[in-house]
Amino acid sequence: MVDVTVEKAEPVIDRLVVVGLGLIGGSFAKGLRESGLCREVVGVDLDPQSRKLAVELGVVDRCEDDLAKACVGADVIQLAVPILAMEKLLAKLAQLELGQAVLTDVGSAKGNVVRAAREAFGSRLPNFVPGHPIAGSEQSGVEASNAELFRRHKVILTPLAETDPAALARVDSLWRALGADVEHMQVERHDEVLAATSHLPHLLAFGLVDSLAKRNENLDIFRYAAGGFRDFTRIAGSDPVMWHDIFLANREAVLRTLDTFRSDLDALRDAVDAGDGHQLLGVFTRARVAREHFSKILARRAYVDAMNSNDLIFLANPGGRLSGRIRVPGDKSISHRSIMLGSLAEGTTEVEGFLEGEDALATLQAFRDMGVVIEGPHHGRVTIHGVGLNGLKPPPGPIYLGNSGTSMRLLSGLLAAQSFDTVLTGDASLSKRPMNRVANPLREMGAVIETAAEGRPPMTIRGGHPLKALNYTLPMASAQVKSCLLLAGLYAEGKTTVTEPAPTRDHTERMLRGFGYPVTVEGATASLESGHKLTATSIEVPADISSAAFFLVAASIAEGSELLLEHVGINPTRTGVIDILRLMGGDITLENQREVGGEPVADLRVRGAKLKGIEIPEALVPLAIDEFPVLFVAAACAEGRTVLRGAEELRVKESDRIQVMADGLLTLGVKCEPTPDGIIIEGGPIGGGEVHGHGDHRIAMAFSVASLRASAPIRIHDCANVATSFPNFLALCAEVGIRVAEEGKS
Ligand code: S3P
Repeated sequence: MVDVTVEKAEPVIDRLVVVGLGLIGGSFAKGLRESGLCREVVGVDLDPQSRKLAVELGVVDRCEDDLAKACVGADVIQLAVPILAMEKLLAKLAQLELGQAVLTDVGSAKGNVVRAAREAFGSRLPNFVPGHPIAGSEQSGVEASNAELFRRHKVILTPLAETDPAALARVDSLWRALGADVEHMQVERHDEVLAATSHLPHLLAFGLVDSLAKRNENLDIFRYAAGGFRDFTRIAGSDPVMWHDIFLANREAVLRTLDTFRSDLDALRDAVDAGDGHQLLGVFTRARVAREHFSKILARRAYVDAMNSNDLIFLANPGGRLSGRIRVPGDKSISHRSIMLGSLAEGTTEVEGFLEGEDALATLQAFRDMGVVIEGPHHGRVTIHGVGLNGLKPPPGPIYLGNSGTSMRLLSGLLAAQSFDTVLTGDASLSKRPMNRVANPLREMGAVIETAAEGRPPMTIRGGHPLKALNYTLPMASAQVKSCLLLAGLYAEGKTTVTEPAPTRDHTERMLRGFGYPVTVEGATASLESGHKLTATSIEVPADISSAAFFLVAASIAEGSELLLEHVGINPTRTGVIDILRLMGGDITLENQREVGGEPVADLRVRGAKLKGIEIPEALVPLAIDEFPVLFVAAACAEGRTVLRGAEELRVKESDRIQVMADGLLTLGVKCEPTPDGIIIEGGPIGGGEVHGHGDHRIAMAFSVASLRASAPIRIHDCANVATSFPNFLALCAEVGIRVAEEGKS
């Protein structure tokens, strides 16, 4: 039989032979027997009792005690004996006439099995597919056989260079038929990964329990050993013989990972001995985040399994009116910068109001990866133990920045000046965004940077290249490019000067001064010189006007609304959205204006208003650059025509915001026409329909707001990235009266 497609439950294999009827072998046999994919399942086991039970329990069709007899006419032979018995078994099999039978195994270590197979069969093993199911149970023996044991568990296959692809495909398809997630890996990599993630933890658990049990006072210790001890040592209840086998089989990889761990443990011991709380905090905060990340990976997997896709859909029901008072989350731009400058400062910086969205968290994690100890975030509070301008350490691997263009562009500036290499990567959206706008001027400063084709990420930044100051005129109005060059300028020899074609957000300049670093701003030109230092400070992050913008538009377009948005940052380089809405007839007043940590702040009161179409003044474009998706919704609700020009930058944001918004608005029946650098929108009725967020947070939120004036529900696909900038968006919508929720939840 050669057919390996398994959708249909017709036999694709004549004879499956399973050697070793323990929990794993029995479960494999039982699952495949029940699937109907094998005409016959034959079991082999030394133990007569197991052979008898296997037939009685329906695990196999028949059993043999003689290996040679069992293997006659076999298509696939699964070796499920204890790992140390594998060598002998392979030697016996090599004496038999196996024809084209595919051999595979379930051993927890792969290097030793492959070695034994080569010794037995010679160097060429085209029909051997080494494998390892990562599944088990505290029960053992054929009586514990469970056809569902491998469902949603990983199975790692480690094909050899000469493994026949058809043999691999056949074994792969059998595991998939049992519901397993199959992955392929190199033998050495498998053994290393398993040594670290499974074998080392078992060694530690066995070792800890034994060490405590040996002490005289053990009875007393165990009486008090609750949560921590119990959680940590659960796996010390595993089968000692099996584990003894595994450590002997995977000796080299276990020793490598154990030695690394021993030196890390010694460092922890030294930190405790020296009373070095900073070192302990560093290890514990990093470990905690890593553990949370791991839980998220597991959770997401469960979600993907259940939904078979990761499309988060928002369902926005039509109508509604807004009321109440809310505080939207902290400013994204300021949150990024607080981590960057706090990390490079001398001393401890306290941040309040930090945005706990994925973008700002990506920046936070990047600095943790570079050795900065950062506590939190906890309810918006972050404590950063600055390392000084020259205190960053090489990260352990590439720095993953998710969806965040701000993280990548700003970081590239300061990483260009470090002594070590870094690689910056991101998600699918970020991987399409242009990075030459920062890479080119940085190269002029002496930086060595490689990018993918057309200046896209990943960015590889080579360390150890001293920077020279640059006098640069930005070709586009971009705060990210300006900030990148100023951050590089902190390290460059001489005076770095950046001139912008139009005013852009100036949080970097303001915050540098807040950290005591001299920056001069004259008209459109900002400059600084290296040689000074950043001194830790306290930062209060105001609410993000870019997040408030969704509610400014929402309350404006929903008749009878009145909403108060508290503590919003109103830095004049960010208030274009207020100016544009006012020009359209919006009713927005600023109350309780004040300054907090160098940034102006106010409470914004917004009431429903009759909006009219306008020609948006081009000077306002950079001051409202992130707010256009929702401003387009305002324009769709306004009377008459709105025209936007000079906004080509919108085409290179998290999505092509001109095209994507035009597509969605057209779907909803709004008349509009995208132009190369803007859009023309005719106000009018809005219908319902299916639109796409394209993984762009602001698109998803803008269409949620449009529902207030829609005549039917709007289904918005691909909304997961709302969490990058506005994690509690749906909760705040529900609080003020916008009827949008995750589909399936009200
Ligand atoms: C940002 C600058 C803007 C903005 C982005 C944040 C910043 O990008 O769109 O959301 O924090 O400096 P550009 O500099 O590309 O315009």
